[in-house]
Amino acid sequence: MRPVRVMKVFITRRIPPEGSAALARAADCEVEQWDSDEPIPREDLEQRMADAHGLLCLLSDRIDKKLLDAAGANLKVISTMSVGVDHLALDEIKKRGIRVGYTPGVLTDATAELAVSLLLTTCRRLPEAIEEVKNGGWTSWKPLWMCGHGLSQSTVGIVGLGRIGQAIARRLKPFGVRRFLYTGRQPRPQEAAEFQAEFVSTPELAAESDFIVVACSLTPVTRGLCNKDFFQWMKKTAVFVNISRGEVVDQDDLYQALASGQIAAAGLDVTTPEPLPTNHPLLTLKNCVILPHIGSATHRTRNIMSVLAADNLLAGLRGEPMPSELKL
Ligand code: NDP
Ligand code: DGY
Repeated sequence: MRPVRVMKVFITRRIPPEGSAALARAADCEVEQWDSDEPIPREDLEQRMADAHGLLCLLSDRIDKKLLDAAGANLKVISTMSVGVDHLALDEIKKRGIRVGYTPGVLTDATAELAVSLLLTTCRRLPEAIEEVKNGGWTSWKPLWMCGHGLSQSTVGIVGLGRIGQAIARRLKPFGVRRFLYTGRQPRPQEAAEFQAEFVSTPELAAESDFIVVACSLTPVTRGLCNKDFFQWMKKTAVFVNISRGEVVDQDDLYQALASGQIAAAGLDVTTPEPLPTNHPLLTLKNCVILPHIGSATHRTRNIMSVLAADNLLAGLRGEPMPSELKL
């Protein structure tokens, strides 16, 4: 019998039990892990990666040239427990012939559900209202008090009608949305048909939408897409929601737009940086709701993501087709 070749695998954080178990069962892998819920310090990561054949990482781990150099020539597979891949230096990775696994699809429903929750929380001013109950601001039922903006008869603009963008539109439609608009690199007539969504330019989407939901991937083109101009095109009554990546938004420009009443409100599941410092100006605004990047945070989804990330890694190490490989 040929001896099993044991490959070194490093996991950058504690991950859900089903993913850990899948890796622990692999007789051909020697698994090392940063056994903590907090990120591994950079120097430790560089050291622990040395000679690793496989890496299972998270969106908060920046996998750049320096880290790839520290890992060395053994590294064959990087499996990220995320659908977003903007933390990976893809050009460098491709140059070295390293395969990449990621987790598309399995988190779409959870993220869309969170996006809708955040939109409703923001447009109906729930955090403010809850606070008023606690601080005595609720003195009577008042006709002009705590009014927000509703979805019925509205126009919703979706930046990026991908998997998550479509799942958001699907969930918003029954609220009585009158019109869906979307942007992207090109029209997606097949996907758009379900919502009779119209492909428009970015300025048009900004100007005509009552609600804007950003659901695109972070790329050199989308970085800083939602800036001063974008917020100036928007209606004063419009609500802005971002569940994609913080860097899609210029946060100084968003602060100005919210503080000056140029737009009505914003709901953010993602920020720059993450975590957002607790003294950040955006946190002083009543019309800004900020969540700590919890789009995919359901027990079931995170477990499934961890299993997919483990399966991608193992398949890649064994030279087999990965369940979800990013084509480089
Ligand atoms: P998809 O690849 O299915 O969708 C990405 C979308 O981005 C596509 O619709 C694409 O549109 C769009 N896009 C790309 N470039 C542009 C551009 N220049 N302008 C407008 N749109 C653009 O990915 P998913 O829907 O699965 O995920 C999308 C992103 O959501 C992830 O990359 C990740 O960053 C984020 N995410 C956040 C989560 C959270 O917890 N908050 C959870 C999961 C994902 P087209 O191809 O038509 O150009
Ligand atoms: C992703 O997968 O890209 C999300 O941001 C976290 O689930």
